[in-house]
Amino acid sequence: MPMIRECIVTTLNEEGKVHIAPLGLIAEEGGWIIAPFRPSATLDNLGVTPYAVANFTDDVLVFAGCLVGRKDWPTRPSTHVPGAVLEGTLAHAELAVGHVEEDEQRPRFHCRVVHEASHAPFKGFNRAQNAVIEAAILASRVHMLPREKIERELGYLQIAVEKTAGPREHEAWRLLVEKIEDHYKHAPPSG
Ligand SMILES: Cc1cc2nc3c(=O)[nH]c(=O)nc-3n(C[C@H](O)[C@H](O)[C@H](O)COP(=O)(O)O)c2cc1C
Repeated sequence: MPMIRECIVTTLNEEGKVHIAPLGLIAEEGGWIIAPFRPSATLDNLGVTPYAVANFTDDVLVFAGCLVGRKDWPTRPSTHVPGAVLEGTLAHAELAVGHVEEDEQRPRFHCRVVHEASHAPFKGFNRAQNAVIEAAILASRVHMLPREKIERELGYLQIAVEKTAGPREHEAWRLLVEKIEDHYKHAPPSG
């Protein structure tokens, strides 16, 4: 299996408005594959503006925020392709779509790297950040995964949050747990 990097992808719609979404980019020689499930704004945008910016950030509040509908994160224009760089990102890559593998569920946009830049040092691994990313993936799949699996995995991930989180990780965790709990409040009882 190829390596996947979880990052914040920005794309532009036909009016030039920035769209922000957490996506797992698949590594390939000289570039990245963006693989959005249908339907998705990222997918629509790549159809009209075949460029994207991959923002490599350790700010997990952006990941959690996007999942709860908070997408108004500050950006600045990218320099080598039409697009937007997330303020505060550690590094970013500006991408141009080369070819597209069409698929009914999940097309794959093969992108080459046009420009890369680093903005701040990587400060080392943090278990709470990893836990938040895992919880964000669970939160984005509440409709597909069994409730028992989600609650068991959250229980395990919570240990790392309690032991190693800073304020942004705590806040991100809270948003995600609230979103998942809210989903089950409104879902019919299982079994
Ligand atoms: C860490 C992480 C990785 C994700 N990777 C993908 C992905 O590769 N493809 C995808 O369609 N959605 C992925 N998602 C879910 C999207 O962020 C979510 O569906 C988002 O709303 C994309 O749709 P949009 O482009 O309409 O905003 C991921 C979510 C998280 C938290």
